[in-house]
Amino acid sequence: MNILILGPGAVGSLWATKFQLAGHHVSLWGRTSESELSLQLDDAPFTTYSNQSISSLQEADLILITVKAWQVESAIEPLLPHINADTIVMLMHNGMGTAEWLASKLSANPIVIATTTHGAYKPSKQQVLHTGHGYTQLGGFNAKGAQCDFLAEVMNHALPEVNWNPNINGALWIKLAINCAINPLTAIHQCKNGELAGAEFTTELVNITHELVEVMNKEEIEVEFGSLYATIMQVVNATAANYSSMRQDVFHKRRTEIDFITGYLLQAAKKHHISTPENAKLYQHIKQIEQSWTEQ
Ligand code: PAF
Repeated sequence: MNILILGPGAVGSLWATKFQLAGHHVSLWGRTSESELSLQLDDAPFTTYSNQSISSLQEADLILITVKAWQVESAIEPLLPHINADTIVMLMHNGMGTAEWLASKLSANPIVIATTTHGAYKPSKQQVLHTGHGYTQLGGFNAKGAQCDFLAEVMNHALPEVNWNPNINGALWIKLAINCAINPLTAIHQCKNGELAGAEFTTELVNITHELVEVMNKEEIEVEFGSLYATIMQVVNATAANYSSMRQDVFHKRRTEIDFITGYLLQAAKKHHISTPENAKLYQHIKQIEQSWTEQ
Protein backbone atom coordinates (compact mmCIF):
# COMPACT_ATOMS: atom_id res chain seq x y z
CA MET A 1 0.00 0.00 0.00
CA ASN A 2 0.98 3.65 -0.38
CA ILE A 3 0.90 4.92 3.18
CA LEU A 4 1.42 8.49 4.33
CA ILE A 5 2.11 9.21 7.99
CA LEU A 6 0.93 12.67 9.03
CA GLY A 7 2.86 13.55 12.17
CA PRO A 8 6.01 11.43 12.45
CA GLY A 9 6.41 11.81 16.22
CA ALA A 10 7.12 8.71 18.33
CA VAL A 11 3.99 6.70 17.46
CA GLY A 12 3.95 7.90 13.82
CA SER A 13 7.62 6.98 13.34
CA LEU A 14 7.06 3.56 14.92
CA TRP A 15 4.30 2.81 12.40
CA ALA A 16 6.28 4.34 9.50
CA THR A 17 9.27 2.07 10.11
CA LYS A 18 7.13 -1.00 10.78
CA PHE A 19 5.07 -0.45 7.59
CA GLN A 20 8.28 0.05 5.60
CA LEU A 21 9.77 -3.18 6.98
CA ALA A 22 6.55 -4.99 6.00
CA GLY A 23 7.09 -3.91 2.37
CA HIS A 24 4.75 -0.93 2.04
CA HIS A 25 5.64 2.30 0.29
CA VAL A 26 5.76 4.83 3.11
CA SER A 27 6.11 8.61 3.03
CA LEU A 28 5.96 11.18 5.80
CA TRP A 29 4.35 14.54 6.32
CA GLY A 30 6.17 16.29 9.14
CA ARG A 31 6.47 19.93 10.16
CA THR A 32 9.91 20.41 8.63
CA SER A 33 10.07 21.29 4.92
CA GLU A 34 13.05 18.99 4.17
CA SER A 35 12.15 16.80 1.18
CA GLU A 36 13.53 13.64 2.82
CA LEU A 37 13.66 12.36 6.39
CA SER A 38 15.58 9.38 7.79
CA LEU A 39 14.42 7.15 10.61
CA GLN A 40 16.03 4.35 12.57
CA LEU A 41 13.88 1.94 14.56
CA ASP A 42 15.81 0.51 17.55
CA ASP A 43 18.97 -1.09 16.06
CA ALA A 44 17.63 -1.53 12.51
CA PRO A 45 19.40 0.29 9.65
CA PHE A 46 18.33 3.85 8.78
CA THR A 47 15.59 4.19 6.15
CA THR A 48 14.78 7.31 4.16
CA TYR A 49 11.29 8.63 3.41
CA SER A 50 10.00 11.44 1.22
CA ASN A 51 8.54 14.29 3.27
CA GLN A 52 5.77 16.73 2.36
CA SER A 53 5.48 15.24 -1.13
CA ILE A 54 2.20 16.34 -2.76
CA SER A 55 2.29 13.41 -5.21
CA SER A 56 2.66 10.90 -2.32
CA LEU A 57 -0.29 12.59 -0.62
CA GLN A 58 -2.41 12.37 -3.78
CA GLU A 59 -1.47 8.72 -4.33
CA ALA A 60 -1.91 7.57 -0.72
CA ASP A 61 -4.15 4.54 -0.12
CA LEU A 62 -3.98 5.26 3.60
CA ILE A 63 -3.22 8.45 5.54
CA LEU A 64 -2.41 7.67 9.16
CA ILE A 65 -2.79 10.80 11.31
CA THR A 66 -0.65 10.56 14.44
CA VAL A 67 -0.47 14.22 15.49
CA LYS A 68 -1.96 15.14 18.87
CA ALA A 69 -5.72 15.69 18.97
CA TRP A 70 -5.43 19.48 19.19
CA GLN A 71 -3.17 19.54 16.12
CA VAL A 72 -5.49 17.52 13.83
CA GLU A 73 -7.40 20.48 12.36
CA SER A 74 -4.38 22.66 11.60
CA ALA A 75 -2.36 19.70 10.26
CA ILE A 76 -5.02 18.39 7.88
CA GLU A 77 -6.67 21.65 6.72
CA PRO A 78 -3.92 22.64 4.19
CA LEU A 79 -3.83 19.09 2.80
CA LEU A 80 -7.59 18.77 2.12
CA PRO A 81 -7.49 19.88 -1.56
CA HIS A 82 -4.95 17.12 -2.35
CA ILE A 83 -6.65 14.16 -0.65
CA ASN A 84 -8.20 11.66 -3.07
CA ALA A 85 -11.79 10.62 -2.24
CA ASP A 86 -10.71 6.93 -2.17
CA THR A 87 -7.95 7.45 0.39
CA ILE A 88 -8.64 5.87 3.77
CA VAL A 89 -7.98 8.37 6.56
CA MET A 90 -7.16 6.97 9.99
CA LEU A 91 -6.90 8.83 13.30
CA MET A 92 -4.64 7.52 16.07
CA HIS A 93 -4.26 9.74 19.15
CA ASN A 94 -5.19 10.08 22.82
CA GLY A 95 -8.60 11.63 23.44
CA MET A 96 -11.80 11.96 21.41
CA GLY A 97 -13.67 14.55 19.39
CA THR A 98 -11.63 15.01 16.20
CA ALA A 99 -13.32 12.37 14.00
CA GLU A 100 -16.57 14.34 13.74
CA TRP A 101 -14.69 17.34 12.31
CA LEU A 102 -12.59 15.15 9.98
CA ALA A 103 -15.66 13.32 8.63
CA SER A 104 -17.39 16.64 7.94
CA LYS A 105 -14.38 17.85 5.91
CA LEU A 106 -13.81 14.53 4.10
CA SER A 107 -17.39 13.33 3.72
CA ALA A 108 -16.56 11.08 0.72
CA ASN A 109 -13.61 9.31 2.37
CA PRO A 110 -13.55 6.18 4.53
CA ILE A 111 -12.67 7.35 8.06
CA VAL A 112 -11.18 4.83 10.49
CA ILE A 113 -10.30 5.43 14.14
CA ALA A 114 -7.60 3.61 16.06
CA THR A 115 -6.36 3.29 19.59
CA THR A 116 -3.03 1.76 20.50
CA THR A 117 -1.19 0.83 23.69
CA HIS A 118 2.27 0.57 22.09
CA GLY A 119 4.93 2.65 23.78
CA ALA A 120 7.37 4.59 21.61
CA TYR A 121 9.97 7.23 22.32
CA LYS A 122 12.00 9.48 20.03
CA PRO A 123 15.29 10.33 21.74
CA SER A 124 16.37 12.30 18.66
CA LYS A 125 14.90 13.48 15.34
CA GLN A 126 15.99 10.33 13.49
CA GLN A 127 15.71 7.68 16.19
CA VAL A 128 12.63 5.86 17.39
CA LEU A 129 12.59 3.31 20.19
CA HIS A 130 9.80 0.78 20.61
CA THR A 131 9.63 0.94 24.40
CA GLY A 132 6.55 -1.11 25.16
CA HIS A 133 4.77 -3.79 23.20
CA GLY A 134 1.04 -3.19 23.06
CA TYR A 135 -1.93 -3.79 20.86
CA THR A 136 -4.01 -1.76 18.46
CA GLN A 137 -7.74 -1.64 17.81
CA LEU A 138 -9.35 -0.22 14.69
CA GLY A 139 -12.91 0.51 13.70
CA GLY A 140 -14.92 2.49 11.18
CA PHE A 141 -16.15 5.97 12.04
CA ASN A 142 -18.37 6.40 8.98
CA ALA A 143 -20.13 3.87 6.71
CA LYS A 144 -17.22 3.64 4.25
CA GLY A 145 -14.75 3.30 7.11
CA ALA A 146 -16.77 0.38 8.50
CA GLN A 147 -15.93 -1.53 5.31
CA CYS A 148 -12.17 -1.27 5.88
CA ASP A 149 -11.81 -4.27 8.20
CA PHE A 150 -9.10 -5.69 5.87
CA LEU A 151 -6.80 -3.04 7.37
CA ALA A 152 -6.55 -5.03 10.60
CA GLU A 153 -4.77 -7.84 8.75
CA VAL A 154 -2.53 -5.43 6.83
CA MET A 155 -1.50 -3.63 10.01
CA ASN A 156 -1.24 -6.84 12.02
CA HIS A 157 1.39 -8.01 9.56
CA ALA A 158 3.41 -4.81 10.19
CA LEU A 159 3.03 -4.45 13.98
CA PRO A 160 0.92 -7.05 15.79
CA GLU A 161 -1.44 -7.32 17.43
CA VAL A 162 -4.14 -5.43 15.55
CA ASN A 163 -7.84 -6.20 15.86
CA TRP A 164 -10.86 -4.84 14.08
CA ASN A 165 -13.41 -3.72 16.67
CA PRO A 166 -16.94 -3.02 15.35
CA ASN A 167 -17.53 -1.25 18.69
CA ILE A 168 -14.50 1.05 18.45
CA ASN A 169 -16.45 3.82 20.19
CA GLY A 170 -16.62 1.65 23.32
CA ALA A 171 -12.86 1.00 23.18
CA LEU A 172 -12.15 4.72 22.75
CA TRP A 173 -14.36 5.58 25.73
CA ILE A 174 -12.51 3.06 27.93
CA LYS A 175 -9.18 4.60 26.84
CA LEU A 176 -10.64 8.07 27.46
CA ALA A 177 -11.71 7.00 30.96
CA ILE A 178 -8.18 5.73 31.72
CA ASN A 179 -6.72 9.02 30.49
CA CYS A 180 -9.29 11.08 32.46
CA ALA A 181 -8.26 9.27 35.65
CA ILE A 182 -4.48 9.12 35.20
CA ASN A 183 -3.38 12.07 33.09
CA PRO A 184 -4.63 15.20 34.92
CA LEU A 185 -3.75 13.86 38.40
CA THR A 186 -0.21 12.86 37.41
CA ALA A 187 0.24 16.22 35.63
CA ILE A 188 -1.00 18.26 38.62
CA HIS A 189 1.09 16.30 41.14
CA GLN A 190 4.01 15.81 38.72
CA CYS A 191 4.21 12.17 39.72
CA LYS A 192 4.64 8.78 38.07
CA ASN A 193 1.52 6.78 37.19
CA GLY A 194 2.26 4.24 39.96
CA GLU A 195 1.97 6.87 42.70
CA LEU A 196 -1.79 7.05 42.05
CA ALA A 197 -2.05 3.64 43.76
CA GLY A 198 -1.34 5.42 47.08
CA ALA A 199 -4.19 5.74 49.60
CA GLU A 200 -4.19 9.57 49.34
CA PHE A 201 -5.59 9.32 45.79
CA THR A 202 -8.27 6.67 46.42
CA THR A 203 -11.24 8.97 47.14
CA GLU A 204 -10.45 11.19 44.15
CA LEU A 205 -10.06 8.23 41.78
CA VAL A 206 -13.29 6.65 43.05
CA ASN A 207 -15.20 9.92 42.49
CA ILE A 208 -13.69 10.42 39.02
CA THR A 209 -14.68 6.86 38.08
CA HIS A 210 -18.27 7.23 39.35
CA GLU A 211 -18.69 10.34 37.18
CA LEU A 212 -17.20 8.53 34.17
CA VAL A 213 -19.54 5.56 34.56
CA GLU A 214 -22.60 7.82 34.71
CA VAL A 215 -21.64 9.69 31.52
CA MET A 216 -20.52 6.53 29.68
CA ASN A 217 -23.78 4.75 30.47
CA LYS A 218 -25.73 7.69 29.04
CA GLU A 219 -23.49 7.43 25.96
CA GLU A 220 -24.65 3.80 25.74
CA ILE A 221 -21.31 2.35 26.79
CA GLU A 222 -22.03 -0.61 29.02
CA VAL A 223 -19.65 -0.33 31.93
CA GLU A 224 -19.87 -0.82 35.69
CA PHE A 225 -18.00 1.00 38.42
CA GLY A 226 -16.13 -2.10 39.67
CA SER A 227 -14.76 -3.17 36.30
CA LEU A 228 -13.83 0.36 35.17
CA TYR A 229 -12.08 1.11 38.46
CA ALA A 230 -10.20 -2.20 38.18
CA THR A 231 -9.15 -1.39 34.59
CA ILE A 232 -7.87 2.04 35.62
CA MET A 233 -5.89 0.60 38.55
CA GLN A 234 -4.53 -2.16 36.35
CA VAL A 235 -3.10 0.49 33.96
CA VAL A 236 -1.77 2.49 36.95
CA ASN A 237 0.13 -0.61 38.09
CA ALA A 238 1.20 -1.81 34.64
CA THR A 239 2.65 1.65 33.83
CA ALA A 240 3.76 2.43 37.42
CA ALA A 241 7.26 3.56 36.44
CA ASN A 242 6.07 5.78 33.55
CA TYR A 243 5.24 9.44 33.42
CA SER A 244 1.93 10.01 31.62
CA SER A 245 1.88 12.04 28.42
CA MET A 246 0.11 14.92 30.21
CA ARG A 247 2.63 14.92 33.03
CA GLN A 248 5.34 15.24 30.37
CA ASP A 249 3.49 18.01 28.51
CA VAL A 250 3.06 20.04 31.71
CA PHE A 251 6.68 19.42 32.72
CA HIS A 252 7.88 20.74 29.33
CA LYS A 253 5.23 23.53 29.28
CA ARG A 254 3.64 22.17 26.10
CA ARG A 255 -0.08 22.42 25.36
CA THR A 256 -1.82 19.34 26.80
CA GLU A 257 -4.61 17.15 25.37
CA ILE A 258 -6.99 18.09 28.21
CA ASP A 259 -9.66 19.53 25.85
CA PHE A 260 -9.92 16.18 24.05
CA ILE A 261 -9.74 14.04 27.22
CA THR A 262 -11.49 15.56 30.27
CA GLY A 263 -12.91 18.35 28.06
CA TYR A 264 -14.65 15.75 25.87
CA LEU A 265 -16.09 14.05 28.96
CA LEU A 266 -17.40 17.39 30.31
CA GLN A 267 -19.11 18.16 27.01
CA ALA A 268 -20.84 14.77 27.01
CA ALA A 269 -21.83 15.29 30.68
CA LYS A 270 -23.34 18.69 29.83
CA LYS A 271 -25.31 17.16 26.95
CA HIS A 272 -26.85 14.64 29.37
CA HIS A 273 -27.24 17.15 32.27
CA ILE A 274 -24.92 15.14 34.50
CA SER A 275 -22.90 16.89 37.20
CA THR A 276 -19.18 15.97 37.12
CA PRO A 277 -17.52 18.23 39.75
CA GLU A 278 -14.41 16.09 40.26
CA ASN A 279 -13.51 16.00 36.56
CA ALA A 280 -14.46 19.68 36.15
CA LYS A 281 -12.03 20.59 38.96
CA LEU A 282 -9.20 18.68 37.25
CA TYR A 283 -10.01 20.32 33.90
CA GLN A 284 -9.91 23.82 35.43
CA HIS A 285 -6.65 23.07 37.20
CA ILE A 286 -4.88 21.94 34.00
CA LYS A 287 -6.28 24.93 32.09
CA GLN A 288 -4.95 27.25 34.82
CA ILE A 289 -1.51 25.65 34.54
CA GLU A 290 -1.53 26.10 30.75
CA GLN A 291 -2.67 29.71 31.10
CA SER A 292 0.08 30.53 33.61
CA TRP A 293 2.71 29.91 30.88
CA THR A 294 1.26 32.50 28.50
CA GLU A 295 0.94 35.06 31.30
CA GLN A 296 4.67 34.85 32.12
O1 PAF B 1 -1.35 9.21 28.01
C1 PAF B 1 -0.66 8.32 28.53
O2 PAF B 1 0.40 8.55 29.11
C2 PAF B 1 -1.14 6.88 28.40
O3 PAF B 1 -2.28 6.86 27.58
C3 PAF B 1 -1.41 6.17 29.73
C4 PAF B 1 -2.23 4.93 29.46
C5 PAF B 1 -2.14 7.04 30.72
C6 PAF B 1 -0.14 5.64 30.33
O4 PAF B 1 0.77 6.60 30.72
